[in-house]
Amino acid sequence: MKQIQNKKILITGGAGFIGSHVVRLFVNKYSDYHIFNLDALTYAGNLENLKDVETAENYTFLKADICDRKQVADFFEKYNFDTVIHMAAESHVDRSITNPFAFVETNVMGTLNLLHAANNSWKNSDKNHLFFHISTDEVYGTLGDTGLFTEQTAYDPNSPYSASKASSDHFVRAFGETFGLPYIISNCSNNYGPNQFPEKLIPLFINNIINNKVLPVYGDGNYTRDWLYVIDHAIAIHLILEKGKIGETYNIGGFNEWKNIDLVKTLCKQMDEKLNRPAGESEKLITYVKDRPGHDLRYAIDASKINKELGWKPSVTFEKGLSKTIDWYLNNEVWLKNVTTGAYQKYYSGQYS
Ligand code: NAD
Ligand code: DAU
Repeated sequence: MKQIQNKKILITGGAGFIGSHVVRLFVNKYSDYHIFNLDALTYAGNLENLKDVETAENYTFLKADICDRKQVADFFEKYNFDTVIHMAAESHVDRSITNPFAFVETNVMGTLNLLHAANNSWKNSDKNHLFFHISTDEVYGTLGDTGLFTEQTAYDPNSPYSASKASSDHFVRAFGETFGLPYIISNCSNNYGPNQFPEKLIPLFINNIINNKVLPVYGDGNYTRDWLYVIDHAIAIHLILEKGKIGETYNIGGFNEWKNIDLVKTLCKQMDEKLNRPAGESEKLITYVKDRPGHDLRYAIDASKINKELGWKPSVTFEKGLSKTIDWYLNNEVWLKNVTTGAYQKYYSGQYS
């Protein structure tokens, strides 16, 4: 066991997409903090994402399922975490349509286990504690053609995924109100960047373009998302941890709305250039397919609170972020191959055939 240092931060879901960027940032930034990464290593968790920090003195990986209440409680007892950044979740909307139960188990019950363990561990302590819950803008439901989600927007989730995240947010608040648990919630828009599992729009389409496979655009492609480069999300999480107010919610967004079809065409253009293919080649792969049930029309975040109160704003433009993302996938062929065999192929044919 490595030496445990000053502050002990438990990050759940740290082997996933966003989690791995947050773990890396924290391990490198806080040499005097010990960072524990608790992750069940589901299909979405991948320790390859953390190769560069796995031997750091201030890092420990704990393989565990947040649904295992006893194991979670034992870890709190053993390590005495003083801060939790909770990111472990089932995160893909399409999978929540096929199997909503897994979403309730991990996102609701798993969160409840963590809240329960944190509350038991912290209730008689006068130290500073924080339960920082990482959530999504999808809890707000859908926007029409205008307007933005603010921290005051009423919850109105439409998919089993967003309903499970909304429920977990409510449990976090309830533990704050009922037991005085110190918490913060952040609700972020769509992330993109390196290490994202290729079930989500951008990495799935990058992988398909590389392999000359069709690009399955749901419905008419006129759905809008607000895209944020993942490292800017990690920076926002760091800033909130340092300066955020207990009991507050912070919306995080990219100020960067794209209709899916426009985004896909931009991606195709960049891919053609990087792969030295004739202009227009990748666009020929676009295929309109059956729509996602309950598909939210538009998400867009008003991030003025975190901007004004904490001074955060995205640092990476979409064009640059997309280019860096494509380069990462092109340079990490082995990573991509390893996550797209076996179970992925089964998922893919079930979802798209
Ligand atoms: P991801 O699917 O890439 O990673 C999830 C991680 O959680 C994986 O490492 C997985 O192994 C782990 N995990 C899943 N179930 C677990 C369990 N029962 N016990 C322990 N670990 C478990 O997800 P992501 O896209 O990195 O999202 C991380 C968090 O951020 C989620 O809470 C998600 O709701 C939220 N979020 C995501 C986005 C986005 O665009 N991806 C945007 C806003 C908020
Ligand atoms: O808004 C934040 C959320 O963003 C996160 O909470 C979720 O964890 C994350 O998965 C993401 O949800 P979306 O459903 O918006 O992301 P996804 O990449 O699955 O889809 C983006 C858009 O692209 C959406 O309108 C559906 C569409 N799409 C997606 C896929 C996978 C397609 O048209 N074809 C596809 O094959």
